[in-house]
Amino acid sequence: MLDHSGYKIGVVIAVSVLVFIPILYYNNDFLDRRTIFFTTESDEVYNESKYLVATPKCKIPNLDPFEAEILKFYKPMKYISCSKRDFLTHVTKNDNIATIHINTNAVPSQLREHISCCMASITRSKNKEKPDDSIRISACKDFTDNTTLTHDFIMVKCIDLKTKKQIYENTHAAITQTKQIKAKITSMNTSATSPFSVLFVGIDSISRLNFIRALPQTYQYLEENAWIPLRGYNKMGDNTFPNVMAIMTGFNESKTYRVCNPSSLGQMDKCPMMWFDYQKLNYVTGYAEDEAPISTFNYKKKGFTKPPTDYYFRPYMLGSERLKAVRRDGMAYCTGPETAGERVLNIAKDFSESFKDVASFSFFWTNTFSHNDLNLPSGMDRKIRDFLEDIAAKGVLDNTIIFFLSDHGIRFGEIRYTHTGWLEERLPFIYISVPDRFKRQFPSEFRNLETKRDHLTTPYDIYMTLQHILVLSGLNYTQKPSDGCPKCASLFAQTESERSCEDAAIEPHWCTCGGYNPVPKTNQTVQNAAKFVVGQIEERIRARNGASKCAKFSVGRIITARVSERFSYKSDVYFLVVMETRPRAVFEATVLWKGEAQFELTGGISRLDKYAEHSRCVEEAYLKMFCYCR
Ligand SMILES: *[C@@H]1O[C@H](CO)[C@@H](O)[C@H](O)[C@H]1NC(C)=O
Ligand SMILES: *[C@@H]1O[C@H](CO)[C@@H](O)[C@H](O)[C@H]1NC(C)=O
Ligand SMILES: *[C@@H]1O[C@H](CO)[C@@H](O)[C@H](O)[C@H]1NC(C)=O
Ligand SMILES: *[C@@H]1O[C@H](CO)[C@@H](O)[C@H](O)[C@H]1NC(C)=O
Ligand SMILES: *[C@@H]1O[C@H](CO)[C@@H](O)[C@H](O)[C@H]1NC(C)=O
Ligand SMILES: *[C@@H]1O[C@H](CO)[C@@H](O)[C@H](O)[C@H]1NC(C)=O
Repeated sequence: MLDHSGYKIGVVIAVSVLVFIPILYYNNDFLDRRTIFFTTESDEVYNESKYLVATPKCKIPNLDPFEAEILKFYKPMKYISCSKRDFLTHVTKNDNIATIHINTNAVPSQLREHISCCMASITRSKNKEKPDDSIRISACKDFTDNTTLTHDFIMVKCIDLKTKKQIYENTHAAITQTKQIKAKITSMNTSATSPFSVLFVGIDSISRLNFIRALPQTYQYLEENAWIPLRGYNKMGDNTFPNVMAIMTGFNESKTYRVCNPSSLGQMDKCPMMWFDYQKLNYVTGYAEDEAPISTFNYKKKGFTKPPTDYYFRPYMLGSERLKAVRRDGMAYCTGPETAGERVLNIAKDFSESFKDVASFSFFWTNTFSHNDLNLPSGMDRKIRDFLEDIAAKGVLDNTIIFFLSDHGIRFGEIRYTHTGWLEERLPFIYISVPDRFKRQFPSEFRNLETKRDHLTTPYDIYMTLQHILVLSGLNYTQKPSDGCPKCASLFAQTESERSCEDAAIEPHWCTCGGYNPVPKTNQTVQNAAKFVVGQIEERIRARNGASKCAKFSVGRIITARVSERFSYKSDVYFLVVMETRPRAVFEATVLWKGEAQFELTGGISRLDKYAEHSRCVEEAYLKMFCYCR
């Protein structure tokens, strides 16, 4: 349970500290910034507590998670349960046989005698057009007390025989082993290698700073147990798909769309993703994600025609979403009596414990309690910490390299109009756990990872690391460079700390290295940059034939303006502008200043307000981002 009074005290202290510190801090800060601006490289030794990454090529500010401008968005929440009662059914597993049990103690005693339950299987149905969105739920068969599961995914319903009313429904997922899986495990066990497993646990849209704010118990657990954070982990693309695909394929977004085009049915099945490489080398693979409509490989995409992993939980999640849902912030937070997020965590726990002594690669991702809200994750803090403690207690960490991470921070809403919000969107949290066996076997590789804590890092580095793990596991695997970032290297490799966003293949708009300092909004160059951006938006609308439907924008007001510092390794100067337009939309752009009123847009433009309502007149996701319907 969250201790609310504790939070209040924490906030009061944080506020009072913030009231006094900034006065001193900003004066010093101003002097420091001026000196940095004019100094040569050799003098550029920075105060560590001021920067997460501080090298002559990259300066990422170390902002306080409880920065004054952020506190008004910070409202910790309690856990919101989806069921007042204990679950009426649960599944146990013994000797590879899964059994469902009715727990009559979960209902009032007068009901116990006349409950009737039935079980149906949930399977992927063979649908040619929508193979990844279609499931079949079989006829529901009555059972009493307990019965053996016929399939791993089931739906259960119970009625009160007297009133004939349904009193309970739920879904369950069991992890049993087929002959093929058993054969895979045996072949791996008899080979002479001792492979390391890989486990990804992702929570969508959580910045490093929001992680510290919203998940304090989890944060404390990771810090106390020496998980390794990458504090300068900078996203490489806007939303989940490009960032996950950079991890899985090493491709940038345009290459991903070219090779793995997710809007073309069957293309993702042929996509060279790392989990396929692991699978080919006899790792047992698994993948689960909640909120099926917006899942990483399915949001406005076709997904997979064949299950991409040995254990593929999408049919189970789709089945769970057919239960009575309670939506929060636009997501199916409750799926029947369980939160969708905990369903994923439970699967991750079951999978990683079931296969803790076997080579496995698994990917688990949650959206429902974090995608659209800064504070909802705080209710899950205890659950997430419990999950990590549980898998640690069961020995999962002994053989598994765990990546606990997010893809980016919150991308929309008022927090994004702040400087902290700018940084948070681009710097997701990531922690890595490495088995003691690895540390003993590969001490220098482990030390290399430790140095990455304060380096600029990217999803492409994870891609390189995943390949490296196969090699360090003693498997016959040839590493290749990341196509999207040829200079990127495994986190276990020794690399120079001096690294620029260009080296890491992070385009200027997403790069947090620039040390951006405020410029007056009235500055003529800022005004010109804003006009230039509006022109660019017009051009994008015109290029997609949207001009007849979408209104013409003009610059309204500049919300913030910043200019990049001069780094000795390059001469480019970038302006970062957040502006409101007429009609009212909020955009953020990073433009290269080429002198006078000359600019160049080198990457994306972000739309910061919630625009669903004003962009209904157009279909395409890309055009929606720029459109305000006439
Ligand atoms: C760095 O800055 C912080 C606060 O701005 C200060 O407390 C600390 O003493 C400084 N450290 C060094 C080594 O100058
Ligand atoms: C299933 O229920 C029966 C009683 O109906 C009991 O004897 C049996 O032990 C139960 N099986 C399991 C696996 O719990
Ligand atoms: C792997 O092999 C060892 C002995 O060679 C055996 O003790 C162990 O149970 C096997 N593990 C699995 C998961 O098959
Ligand atoms: C390693 O794999 C390559 C290609 O997959 C194969 O040609 C080679 O024989 C393998 N080497 C060993 C030692 O198994
Ligand atoms: C993406 O990668 C390809 C190489 O496959 C490269 O040619 C292209 O310039 C990259 N795109 C961006 C936007 O960096
Ligand atoms: C606007 O800001 C830029 C960057 O700080 C500066 O170089 C320029 O001189 C400013 N322009 C005016 C007119 O003050």
